[in-house]
Amino acid sequence: MTAMAASDEAAIARTAALFEAPAPTLEAIARDLTRQMARGLVGEPSSLKMLRTFTRQPSGHERGRVVVVDWGGTKARAGLIELGGAGSVQILAEEALTFSEADKRAAPEPVLDLIAGAVGRVVRAEGVDAAPLGFVYSYPARLERIDRAVALASTKGWRLKGLEGQDVAALFGAALRRAGLERVGLAAVANDTVAALMLQSYRARGRDPGARPADVGLILGTGTNQAADLGPAGIRNLESGNFDGVAAVETRYDAALDRELDEPRPGAQRFEKMISGHYLGEVLRRVLADLGPRTTGFRWSASAALSTPYALDSEDLSRIAADRTAALDEVERLLGALGVASTREERTGVRVLAAAIARRAARLVGAALVGTLRFLDAELAERRTIAVDGSLWGGYPGFEALVRETMGELAGGERASRIETVYVKDSTSAGAAVIAAVAAARGSE
Ligand code: BGC
Repeated sequence: MTAMAASDEAAIARTAALFEAPAPTLEAIARDLTRQMARGLVGEPSSLKMLRTFTRQPSGHERGRVVVVDWGGTKARAGLIELGGAGSVQILAEEALTFSEADKRAAPEPVLDLIAGAVGRVVRAEGVDAAPLGFVYSYPARLERIDRAVALASTKGWRLKGLEGQDVAALFGAALRRAGLERVGLAAVANDTVAALMLQSYRARGRDPGARPADVGLILGTGTNQAADLGPAGIRNLESGNFDGVAAVETRYDAALDRELDEPRPGAQRFEKMISGHYLGEVLRRVLADLGPRTTGFRWSASAALSTPYALDSEDLSRIAADRTAALDEVERLLGALGVASTREERTGVRVLAAAIARRAARLVGAALVGTLRFLDAELAERRTIAVDGSLWGGYPGFEALVRETMGELAGGERASRIETVYVKDSTSAGAAVIAAVAAARGSE
């Protein structure tokens, strides 16, 4: 095995350095996000939609059986949840569905029929005849009521024909009826960020009525987004994946990725394209493809397997980061599975680059959270709770520590210590049940 040429090492280091996001740059990004929140809220031009959610914080004592649907990424889930009051949640049954690329380009009805079919199997197996349903639709949607959500342009690679402008709750209600589920009534539609926030509040308040509800719900999975409780303006879905104030950290790889994807369209979801699970592996793949012709290593990056968009995903980044072996055995296995034989030096290079991409993502998340929290409380004087869920947060080693470190750099250690991050694993279905239960309680007020 030959050592890597010094010029190659320099090329790797230079490329990794493109992904640096120093504190002053992040501070400007955080301030921009706070400003754009203010603009979005009053309907001025902003990349943040600040969408209404028509829900409010739970008491923690909500009870009952709720049918839930979680549709938001590579998978959908139908389930039956029992809320026991006192913050307790039990999943009684759950079924997951996986979608094909063709599904993502189909008309909405067949996709919703698949989901309604799963709901039918769950409720029949559990002997449930009638129940309220909480529907988590984790794409941009403008709610007009708790049970009416007009679809905006989709994200995460979905583009269902003719969906934009339609009420997804009504479409899904029709699918439930086609599945013979007339007595399963859609009680609430919500975003996954709102589900995370509401679940954390329900648990905390159920255990201790004096507990603070969550202030922010953050998802870091296939996509990314935040919801925040803005007090008098209610709980809002920021759709922060669309935040566009990222020019200062943009690399040529980000620019090309943005330009070359047709869904979401160029210019949309700029923040998400640098941060979330759907894109991080693809950024790394593009970096490796670029280094191939410029170095003596990485020749394999031109191989068919690696020339395919999305050949690498964010789980691969997590595996690379978790590989602590001297020869990077796991990285070798991962590349081997793509038909690539690599040298140890090349694997070290891959690891350095993957870490740089993930680190930038985490630092941008930290900046965005500081931006949101400053909107709630400019001085960050109060304690705040951020409920977080998603595969990247849960799966990438050290992601949370990087986010927290960044919040400390921007807000100062003392203020950052008042910000609590709580990992609410698998929050979507349980959170949907809480939202539906809150809606049902309000309906009977
Ligand atoms: C969607 C959001 C969602 C987020 C996380 C984004 O692509 O636009 O609505 O909350 O992904 O799932």
